[in-house]
Amino acid sequence: MDLERVKDDITEVVATREQIHNRIVEIAAAISKDYGDRDLLLVGVLKGAVMAMADLARAMQRHVEMDWMAVSSYGSGTKSSGVVRILKDLDRDITDRDVLIVEDIVDSGLTLSWLQTNLLSRGAKSVEIFTVFRKPEAAKVHVDVKYVGFDIPPAFVVGYGLDFSEKYRNLDCVAVLAPKMYS
Ligand code: IMP
Ligand code: MG
Repeated sequence: MDLERVKDDITEVVATREQIHNRIVEIAAAISKDYGDRDLLLVGVLKGAVMAMADLARAMQRHVEMDWMAVSSYGSGTKSSGVVRILKDLDRDITDRDVLIVEDIVDSGLTLSWLQTNLLSRGAKSVEIFTVFRKPEAAKVHVDVKYVGFDIPPAFVVGYGLDFSEKYRNLDCVAVLAPKMYS
């Protein structure tokens, strides 16, 4: 969906479709370089990371495997609850695997820090994190995010997989949702 369709709901564009695409191509090259010829399993966090996974995987000029997890931390509001629940687990065993978590956004970092610990406890060889967007709060918790697309202001954003009550995920850019939409 184009921005034009929802321009009254948003206050500013944080990243255009083209900016996101270009940045993901750069990051894909960095990841390929870092992993060399080691097998790589990309673990996408549903549903927000669907767009990021699709773009990252296609930008990688090498084989990758993909698996998915669904966790809940937000409910339908705009604040992190800190309580993480697995709604859908991985299909395959990850013992001795090099795992790269693919996330849409890190805000409090609670979800990712929990997920990284969880995957390491299953015997993965390594668990690194790629997130397309990171908010300033993320710097305060101990979650070591290896690949970051964009550092953005602490506003609630939608688009490129990010939703507000399941809407706006299909917006092709990322934009700040107008506070009037949820207050
Ligand atoms: P955290 O646990 O606070 O880091 O938040 C993790 C999850 O909350 C993300 O993976 C998103 O699904 C959701 N989230 C955080 N910030 C935003 C936002 O600005 N817009 C939409 N979803 C968000
Ligand atoms: Mg998410």
